[in-house]
Amino acid sequence: MTQQRRIIVANWKANLPPGEEVALAGEIATGLAAQLATTAPHVIEVLLAPSHVGLVAVTSLLRREHPAIGIGTAAQDASATEVGAHTGESPATHLVGIADAVIVGHSERRRERGESDAIVGAKLARIVAAGLRPILCLGDDLIDGGERERAAALSNQWIAALAGAAGLGVDRTALLAAGLVVAYEPVWAIGSGRPATPAIASAAAAAIRASVGSDLPILYGGSVDADGAAAFLASRHDDGGRIDGLLVGGASLSASRFLGIIVATRSAASGR
Ligand code: 13P
Repeated sequence: MTQQRRIIVANWKANLPPGEEVALAGEIATGLAAQLATTAPHVIEVLLAPSHVGLVAVTSLLRREHPAIGIGTAAQDASATEVGAHTGESPATHLVGIADAVIVGHSERRRERGESDAIVGAKLARIVAAGLRPILCLGDDLIDGGERERAAALSNQWIAALAGAAGLGVDRTALLAAGLVVAYEPVWAIGSGRPATPAIASAAAAAIRASVGSDLPILYGGSVDADGAAAFLASRHDDGGRIDGLLVGGASLSASRFLGIIVATRSAASGR
């Protein structure tokens, strides 16, 4: 049986100072090395997303001390602006050679920083123009909503972000060619300790694929922990509802919990 490629991303948000991010990356790499000693490599892509201030240090540590483990890094955001006189900004081109991917449109940024779909779209365009892979977060706040309502909300978010990217000359084809990944992160599940059900995540994944018009990789994020991880990854494969990976917040701040999620992913991937 061919094994499906999984993507597991740790989003550390602004929880840890850089020194602790480096220490945590080292612990995760060491734990992963032990797992890889007994299982086939390359089935799971692991990405760590430290804070901007810790990103270079974490990437350096992984390349210097753990090059054989193949853990990559993702930035948690990139600027909508280009290189230039923009105090405090982090243009996407500055991330080239440092991060493998960039998270964009996280609901915390939409809510706390007022990021509109247009801004998210502009950021998407900058990320793609820089040659980086975007991980676009889409999510609804419809905890009691039905499947159709949720699908409509996700589709609207996608269409609006796409329009924002098109404003800077980056279209759907270019986004897909850049390896676009979408993370379905229901706002009500993030940090709540109450994840969406695998059925909700799967229906959302199918809706996103239908809206994008591509069988692109889709992750689920929102209160994921080791005991629930496998159920998301085992979700429907027949109608576009496949979940390819996980975007993990709180549980990724502990090496043992995050490694537990990777173990669960490994068994889901090998059908055990
Ligand atoms: P939690 O896993 O803490 O709910 O966070 C999810 C998230 O927002 C990942 O980007």
